[in-house]
Amino acid sequence: MPLYDLLRPLLFSLPPEPAHRAASAALHAAMLTPPQRAAARALLQVRDPALAVERFGIRFPNPVGMAAGFDKAGGSFNALGALGFGFVEIGTVTALAQPGNPAPRLFRLPADAALLNRMGFNNPGADAVAARLRRTPVEPVLGINLGKSKAAPLEDAAADYLRTLELLEPFAAYLAVNVSSPNTPGLRQLQDAAPLRELLRALRLRAAQLASARGGAARPLLLKIAPDLTDPQVEEAAAIALEEGLAGVIATNTTVSRAGLRTPAAQVERLGAGGISGAPVHRRAVEVVSLVYRTTGGRLPVVGVGGIFGADDAWRMVRAGAGLVQVWTGFIYRGFGIAREINRGLLHRLRREGMRSLDQAVGAAHR
Ligand SMILES: Cc1cc2nc3c(=O)[nH]c(=O)nc-3n(C[C@H](O)[C@H](O)[C@H](O)COP(=O)(O)O)c2cc1C
Repeated sequence: MPLYDLLRPLLFSLPPEPAHRAASAALHAAMLTPPQRAAARALLQVRDPALAVERFGIRFPNPVGMAAGFDKAGGSFNALGALGFGFVEIGTVTALAQPGNPAPRLFRLPADAALLNRMGFNNPGADAVAARLRRTPVEPVLGINLGKSKAAPLEDAAADYLRTLELLEPFAAYLAVNVSSPNTPGLRQLQDAAPLRELLRALRLRAAQLASARGGAARPLLLKIAPDLTDPQVEEAAAIALEEGLAGVIATNTTVSRAGLRTPAAQVERLGAGGISGAPVHRRAVEVVSLVYRTTGGRLPVVGVGGIFGADDAWRMVRAGAGLVQVWTGFIYRGFGIAREINRGLLHRLRREGMRSLDQAVGAAHR
């Protein structure tokens, strides 16, 4: 019996946030030293040249990443990397430290293989995360996800994001601009064309200035969007990302929709506000990946995220146009072998199709 089959009932007997804390602490303790991490990597990392990809100038050992929100404070990215993920995105980090919403703010919907969360960007703030990164050698390809502090008015959003970018970009392989969390009031308005263009332009310019001061290449900036945008809004956001010189789009964040859930509506309603992740968001996330891929003619790498539980889901995302994928809710339901399981399954499908690299499969559904 796989170990996680034993652990899962134990973890699921705890409320979700304490279970998450316990699992993170156990993971951290079990993978504290480089030899422990090397041992885990030897078991869980699928090494094959067909899975290695290059995106926006970065080489990823495999295309399966851990999505933002699991390691919000940058405390366990090396342990997560050792579980066979090709990259780890930490954050969302905001300029100001903030506690997030009052608990309970994370719930399981097992009948839907889903989670509902209204965490609200709980994080120790960009200064504290930068201090931690300064003393921790980074092992995996590290993405850092940037958000707006709750206390910063929407009109001052750019300045608030810029502060976080300045503090954290030295440590990141790429930076993700999160304008799509449903749990910070007003945040998603930054997806509207005018403020989005203004924000992305300011961040791009600063990233370029910092790079030239350093004498290196600017950190790639990716835009993370919501599944609740309409199709025209997705197309518009993708076009803006392309025009403003972004390196990619991450699709998608959690959804505020409650449509099609198996969990009784009254029960869902009692849980209150928040974003749904996991299986219910998968179909729309694949559609959004498709739309971004089509709108940009495949010129902008897309990171597909939403309801990926196994290789079939990841393969669907890749064929829709995702050059990289990420998981979050799948990790809770499937456990710490999920990156290996997905990578092995992708490899199997590549061989079955006679493909020598993942790149041949990216966007195949459109050809
Ligand atoms: C508890 C929880 C916290 C999250 N926190 C963040 C976050 O801080 N920033 C972010 O960009 N996305 C966050 N997400 C969204 C995930 O990164 C991902 O986009 C979404 O959950 C869909 O993927 P999944 O179905 O594999 O979970 C969070 C998701 C969950 C479940």
